Amino acid sequence: MKKGIFITFEGADGCGKTTQIELIKKYLDLNNIDNVLTREPGGCDLGFELRKILLHYEKPVSNIAELFLYLADRAQHTEFTIKPLLAEGKIVLCDRYIDSTVAYQGYARGQDIEKIIELNNLVTKNLKPDLTIVFDIDSNLAQSRLKGEKDRLEKEGLEFHKALRKGYLELAKSNPERIKVISSDDTIENIHKQCVELIKGYIN
Ligand code: TYD
Repeated sequence: MKKGIFITFEGADGCGKTTQIELIKKYLDLNNIDNVLTREPGGCDLGFELRKILLHYEKPVSNIAELFLYLADRAQHTEFTIKPLLAEGKIVLCDRYIDSTVAYQGYARGQDIEKIIELNNLVTKNLKPDLTIVFDIDSNLAQSRLKGEKDRLEKEGLEFHKALRKGYLELAKSNPERIKVISSDDTIENIHKQCVELIKGYIN
């Protein structure tokens, strides 16, 4: 089976991830490199429904219910979207994946990290990204960048976002081959250049 390349993008809300992913997609398109952009939560039909609940449900949601909703989205998305695209040999760019759950539901919500890693393995049948780029940003700066109406997760306070950042940095430390950290404290152009350098190592 021909296998594509799986690249994921991670970081706190407000880290500039969306801008960078769009630039990478443009770069790949301009270079005629076949790619597909998807995201979690909400990268497939069922996920689209789950995303509405995850981001906008107005009544209290228990931490464990939140965890399993993200995992349900991932199970469906991995099986019916990501794996078939990789089997076709595509480069799959995914806005958030397993590390978001470890960072948000694990580090920031304070749930058992090892269990979450195990559950991620279960729902993805161990599908890991070839490369994960984490956009690292100071938590105060990230929060000040959030404009407009905030979703459920964005409404969390500074302590939550600090724990989240710590989570991403620890994940990067324990997975140095897969996870690369880029500081968001730079110009859009410079950050893009760093992303391209990293990605080039995988697409040649
Ligand atoms: P989204 O609007 O896609 O935010 P962003 O542009 O920052 O990616 O919202 C996704 C939110 O869901 C974001 O706050 C992170 C959170 N999230 C988790 O808490 N756990 C997860 O496993 C995933 C995939 C996302």
